[in-house]
Amino acid sequence: LTHLLTTEGLPAPILRQILDRARNYANAAERDEKKHTTLAGKSVFNLFFENSTRTRTTFEIAAKRLSADVISLNIGASSTAKGETLLDTIHNLEAMGADMFVVRHAESGAPFLIARHVQPNVHVVNAGDGRHAHPTQALLDMYTIRHYKGEFNNLRVAIVGDILHSRVARSQIHALTTLGCPEVRVIAPKTLLPTGVEQLGVHVFHDMEAGLKDVDVVIMLRLQNERMSGALLPSAAEYFKSYGLSPDKLAHAKPDAIVMHPGPMNRGIEIDSTVADGSQSVILPQVTFGIAVRMAVMAILAENKQ
Ligand code: CP
Repeated sequence: LTHLLTTEGLPAPILRQILDRARNYANAAERDEKKHTTLAGKSVFNLFFENSTRTRTTFEIAAKRLSADVISLNIGASSTAKGETLLDTIHNLEAMGADMFVVRHAESGAPFLIARHVQPNVHVVNAGDGRHAHPTQALLDMYTIRHYKGEFNNLRVAIVGDILHSRVARSQIHALTTLGCPEVRVIAPKTLLPTGVEQLGVHVFHDMEAGLKDVDVVIMLRLQNERMSGALLPSAAEYFKSYGLSPDKLAHAKPDAIVMHPGPMNRGIEIDSTVADGSQSVILPQVTFGIAVRMAVMAILAENKQ
């Protein structure tokens, strides 16, 4: 593996290798062995052209725990504001000795473009591109599911909400189906589903009661208002009534179902606070697991010498 750009087409053994390596890092951290030397002498550049709290920070922690030199470029104060192209920025950072780029960009495909133009010994990790892919989020979600539920081959997973604009949902669906999850459901109004979503191997529901029935895992998604035209924007109250996860809707899932959300959450729109902060929620552990998973991804990429 040279770059991590998408979970689409990633074979199950590679997904499992990342999850297993992450578990080793998480176990080591529990023994207070947090620091490793895997990326000593390497320079990791965090390039976040779109806002982030969880991904950017956990990548930075992960790279530091692997002993990398970490540079988080302040894009707003960089020369991109003066019109420098994305590739010129990348080539200048390569000239400073970059070994790895972690890239978030509003344009779908931007990390792929970078990966095609970097030197052969430089690695690119997609930290979320447009509505296309967010592979490390999906990987940390797979880690979370495996941690709480064991193997994937007898699980029913429901992904709920704005599937149309969600790079997270796309990456999760590819990872879940590759890892052998027999039933992935998506629950959303017709307007928030991409055309042909069934071709990804999911079962489509428009009703929460039916869609959540007997599921083991409920993954809630944020309404991505910033990617919607006015015509698609439902009112918050209307949306919450039909698709917001409240205790009464969650009662249709299995009693031991876990509730996940990639964050940031819109409380009272896609999820009720009682559920977000309730006993079935694993939303904050997802964030913690993100550190070990991102450590695993960067270590595995760096060990691939090509
Ligand atoms: N889940 C996620 O990508 O969160 P951030 O936008 O805060 O990084």
